[in-house]
Amino acid sequence: DLPSTYPHPVRLAIIGGTGIASLTHSGFTPVAVLNPTTPWGSPSSPITILHTPHTTHPIAFLARHGAYHQFLPSEVPNQANIAALRSIGVRSVIAFSAVGSLREEIKPRDFVVPDQVFDRTKGVRPWTYFGGGVVGHVGFAEPFDHRLSQVVAGVGEKVLGQRGGRLHMGGTLICMEGPQFSTRAESHIYRSSIPNAAIINMSCLPESKLAREAELAYIMICMSTDYDCWKSDEEPVTVETVMGNMKANAETANALVSAVLEELVKEEHAELVAANHLSGATRWSVCTKEG
Ligand code: ADE
Repeated sequence: DLPSTYPHPVRLAIIGGTGIASLTHSGFTPVAVLNPTTPWGSPSSPITILHTPHTTHPIAFLARHGAYHQFLPSEVPNQANIAALRSIGVRSVIAFSAVGSLREEIKPRDFVVPDQVFDRTKGVRPWTYFGGGVVGHVGFAEPFDHRLSQVVAGVGEKVLGQRGGRLHMGGTLICMEGPQFSTRAESHIYRSSIPNAAIINMSCLPESKLAREAELAYIMICMSTDYDCWKSDEEPVTVETVMGNMKANAETANALVSAVLEELVKEEHAELVAANHLSGATRWSVCTKEG
């Protein structure tokens, strides 16, 4: 029974996707479990605060699909999740997600840090904090934080290499609605018509858009589990394949979080973790007159 409060702001959050319901690295110790409520309701799961070997840098962990994996991608309370994280002090988010690969060289159990996202959700997910009298348009040309990506690039190759996999930097992530997987026709079209199409999932949007509106630095670490259904010499993706590969991916993800933290505690990254470069950015996107 851990305390339900934590006395300090927590700057860095990890959002775990399918197959990562908690952080299990031996160096991480849970010290509190928070249940914040927000004007958008409760987040997907309680937020666990973990101490790491670097006690100056606690981290927050949220399970995107709920503690029992009870939320479909379209049902995830993204507004509450991002607002809850922001309310405990979070400024930087490293989100994890299982993805299908749209490229031969991105093999199951490889990791990808995409630099673009292409929206194939269907408008059924609440996707903004604006509206209701306040009009705002944030920039999203570069959906992912380049500086945070660079930190992962610097340490990630070694972590993946030790496990016989590869870390791919860049590429376009296609975010589809689901919950059904794609048809072959769709999978082929994504590969041939979307610039730099690399991977596909159901969870990056609107999570990353809301993070931008909330001025959080955000990246997604994508863990390949399958070749979707475009590859003629592979069986089309099933949940069984995804879950099987996620067992190995979860271990790699924990090791990667640990390596990233070891790097982020360095003084040179203090500004980045605090996301000072984003502070106030949303203010200039609001076009409603004060009245
Ligand atoms: N998540 C994991 N594999 C996927 C796929 N092939 N399509 C969409 N989401 C996925």
